[in-house]
Formats: sequence, structure tokens, C-alpha cells
Amino acid sequence: MFPETLPEIADSDLEQFFQIMLTQYGYDFRGYAPASLKRRLGTVLKRYGLADMRTLNQRLLTQPDYCERFINEITVSTTELFRDPSAWIALKTQALPLFLSMPQLRIWHAGASTGEEVLSMAILLTEMGLYDRAQLIATDIDKRSLNQAQKATYPLRNRALYEQNLKTVFPLSSLDKYAREEEGQLVFRQELLRNVLYLQHNLVSEGVFGLFEIVLCRNVLIYFTPELQDRVVMKLVDSLVPGGVLMIGTKESLFWCSAAKRLVAINESERLYRRRQ
Ligand SMILES: C[S@@+](CC[C@H](N)C(=O)[O-])C[C@H]1O[C@@H](n2cnc3c(N)ncnc32)[C@H](O)[C@@H]1O
Repeated sequence: MFPETLPEIADSDLEQFFQIMLTQYGYDFRGYAPASLKRRLGTVLKRYGLADMRTLNQRLLTQPDYCERFINEITVSTTELFRDPSAWIALKTQALPLFLSMPQLRIWHAGASTGEEVLSMAILLTEMGLYDRAQLIATDIDKRSLNQAQKATYPLRNRALYEQNLKTVFPLSSLDKYAREEEGQLVFRQELLRNVLYLQHNLVSEGVFGLFEIVLCRNVLIYFTPELQDRVVMKLVDSLVPGGVLMIGTKESLFWCSAAKRLVAINESERLYRRRQ
């Protein structure tokens, strides 16, 4: 098998793309890691049969309706229920026990994608008897993913993996408690979403909007340059109450982030940190 060949993207066309997205729509892609951004742009060109980046830029410039769909195409929405189960075991055994006596538990999922991560948290809280005192906020730049998140409906082919991940974290539980099959889809109980608020929010260009005991921003920083990671992590840490908990993705690092000195590791290999008091 040969690797897929994608159209070349010149730096000048990329520059024009940045300007259009920023000035027309307020999306700032300048801090996204260039190699993976170019790859994803190339995939979009190919999928839509567009000759080159100039054609895409022209379309973005002249067809505002196209932008929402484009954001959905350009962002990577890969996610799953209890993705990286060992991270969820760390949340269950090392993070949530810190807040057992708190009357409220505010949790922000930054870059929540199609909602499986916030559903995992809702299940975790339910299993630990903490759901009723929790308020969960799920944000993403991509409106289409958030719409899907609110439906909490996924392809049935995901079922076996989701069941397996759930059982790794809660061996005695079962997906049947939380989801049912309906018209060939896996539909989660809307009750799990009763304390969840879904909001479109751009981590790059928008500020901090609340204080949280727990912030999850997993598998999002990986798409940003080190400079942008530094800025975004500062916002995440500013959003934590003293003693609050931050989790990033297991393939991500705080290496470039000046805000790292405001955190102590609870579990370094699972990228679980606590804001200093
Ligand atoms: C790979 S998914 C991660 C989903 C989930 N956190 C997980 O780990 O399974 C990355 C998500 O980050 C979102 N994203 C990318 N840039 C963003 C930005 N500037 N602000 C907010 N979300 C962003 C994408 O739309 C996508 O839904």
C-alpha cells in the first residue's frame, strides 16, 4: 500500500487561509502545528475535489455557510468512551476522592468533541454517587461535533470497544445501564446529560469563563505549536480553583508551558496534575 498523496500547500496560500479565517470568521489557526494542519487541509481539498488551496480560500471567502462544515472537516474529532482507560482509573482513584466532601463539583471538558469524554465523566460520577452535585461544561470549537454530543448517539460498531473500556474502569458495570440500541444506533440515556451544558468555545481566541474543580483538555494541545500550548495551558490553569485538578492527554506534555510551575503532578504518566494552593 502506498501512502496517500495529498496536494502540496504553499506557505503563501496558508498565510492567506489564516487571514481569511481570522478576519472573516474570528478563527485563529496560526498556532496550529503546520505539518498536521497542512495534511488535514490537503485531505479536505481531496475530499471536495478542489484543485488547490486557492480554490478553498476563495470558497471560504465567498461562502460563509461553508465555514461551519469546514471547521468540522478540519478539526480532528477522534474520541471514544473511557478513552485510555488507565487515565480514567487515575481520575477515579486519585482525582475524584479529593472532592468527596465538596458540596459542588464543577468540571470543564475543553475540546469535548462528539461527547464521549463527558459521557465517560457522567458515568464515572454516577458510579461514584457524585453526579447530583456535579455541573459539567463541554466546550469545543466545532459546532457540529457539539450537536452530535448533545444527541449522545453513536454508531453501533463502537459498542464492543466502549463496553470493554467501561469494564476496565468499572469491572462490575455494564453498558446496558447507560445506553440502549435504537434503530441501529447506540443511544445513551439523556438522564446522563441532565447536568451537562454544551457551549461553543475557542480555546485559542476566547478567555477563561469560570472556575472549576476539574478541567480535562485531552488530545487537543497536540494540534498546537509549543507557543500556543503555553498560552492555552495558562488559561486552563487560570480556570482551576486552588487545589483543582487538570488532566491532559497521555501523548501530550507540559514541557513548554510556563504554567507547569503552578501545578504538581498527581500521576505524571497519566498526565494528571493539581493546581498548587
Ligand atoms: C481529538 S479531539 C479530542 C476529544 C476528547 N477530548 C478526547 O480526548 O477524546 C480534539 C478536539 O479539539 C477540538 N479543538 C481543536 N481546536 C480547538 C480550539 N481552538 N478550541 C476548542 N476546541 C478545539 C476539536 O474540534 C476536537 O473536537
